[in-house]
Amino acid sequence: MTDRNDRTAHFGFRDIGVDEKAPMVQGVFESVASRYDIMNDLMSMGAHRFWKDALMDWMRPRAGEHCLDVAGGTGDVADRIRQRQGGSAASGRVLVFDLTEGMLRAGQERFQGRDDLQWVCGNAEALPFEDGSFDAYTISFGLRNVSRPDLALAEARRVLRPGGRFFCLEFSRVVLPILKDIYDQYSFKLLPTLGGLVAGDRDSYQYLVESIRRFPPQEQLEEMMREAGFGRVSHRNMSGGIVAVHNGWRI
Ligand SMILES: C[S@@+](CC[C@H](N)C(=O)[O-])C[C@H]1O[C@@H](n2cnc3c(N)ncnc32)[C@H](O)[C@@H]1O
Repeated sequence: MTDRNDRTAHFGFRDIGVDEKAPMVQGVFESVASRYDIMNDLMSMGAHRFWKDALMDWMRPRAGEHCLDVAGGTGDVADRIRQRQGGSAASGRVLVFDLTEGMLRAGQERFQGRDDLQWVCGNAEALPFEDGSFDAYTISFGLRNVSRPDLALAEARRVLRPGGRFFCLEFSRVVLPILKDIYDQYSFKLLPTLGGLVAGDRDSYQYLVESIRRFPPQEQLEEMMREAGFGRVSHRNMSGGIVAVHNGWRI
């Protein structure tokens, strides 16, 4: 997130210069890229699969749709989109777009031989696509890493065609009081320790936990989406608000 003057951004609990954030985020993901998928399963105890499936249930990708998955990492969401579309390369473009080359490389290795996914490196704040080129835009566990999320939202709206749909799956605010303490203990104590032990990279997982806490809660993100010009904005909580899916339409 950035401050009102766009001069600083959050990097976990630290405030840094806005232009410093992208290289630091890139550093985090370059360092975890080769272990990202396995760590994702371990850290979320497999729950990220359920959350991504729920995203697909809401999105219901249709054959022929052009879909852009921003901050798409190793292609988890893009692959699910393809499966829901019926898996044919003929049925629209599905593009994985990410800042970190190492994440895209890990995805390309993972889906070696698949010609139905395209991989493009770049920044969500400046998408190299024409106005109105996509039917759907997804961003999963990505927006909180972006330096200027308001710019990323404006870009999302720009590249969607009128009637196109935006979906953001992201960690959010726990709404079940009973869950709060357990979740705090798990995320602040166990997660960085596990990251250190299993991936040898405690700092990256400390960043993960802190970045979650600095991300705007459900209603604030809805407001940011409206400010970016999205219509019919709504969200659904999952796992007591640990994560939420936000949806908006390019009207
Ligand atoms: C936590 S991973 C999520 C990967 C994937 N979407 C998933 O759900 O498994 C966050 C991804 O966001 C990417 N990212 C961070 N900042 C970005 C930006 N400004 N533009 C595009 N991608 C970005 C990182 O490189 C990383 O691959």
